[in-house]
Amino acid sequence: MNDKNIRALSQILDTADHSVRTARISYNLAVKLGLNDIEIFNLLMGALLHDFGKLNLDQEILGIPGPLTKEQYEYIKNHTIFGYKLTKNIVNEEIRKAILNHHERIDGSGYQKKVNITLNEQILGIADVYDALTYRRCYSKKVHSHKEAITLMKKNNNFNNEILDKLASLNIDKKVG
Ligand SMILES: [Fe+2]
Repeated sequence: MNDKNIRALSQILDTADHSVRTARISYNLAVKLGLNDIEIFNLLMGALLHDFGKLNLDQEILGIPGPLTKEQYEYIKNHTIFGYKLTKNIVNEEIRKAILNHHERIDGSGYQKKVNITLNEQILGIADVYDALTYRRCYSKKVHSHKEAITLMKKNNNFNNEILDKLASLNIDKKVG
């Protein structure tokens, strides 16, 4: 295996690892918010597969640690659409929509500027960003504490505050993936 393939493989494993952590945070939020079993199932599947579309991207570009060019950023944004397309006939439409919309924000500042985002999509978006802020990954600039991450996300003003308050109340053990 050459260096490029090893980097690509570790990139894919990093995404898988992040997806499991995102599912775990999503599950804890779903329980706190009183979601039913079907909603929780859809949320968990969405969380596990939310970055599936990254498999379709050039892993070298995905692993760039420094600031991205506008073109590279736009290219990486395609992972939501790739994920939606790749999961056709694999999972239900609600799960596919969560994959498609996990970077959408309630104020319309997301990738596709959508504003009507379901509760499950909002939970997934929050769990995704929280993990990115609090867990060291190859392109992490700074790892934030639980409290710092919540403060930052509240400051952004584009997440559902009720979900953020539930997140703040979670006792997250970082040692368990
Ligand atoms: Fe993503």
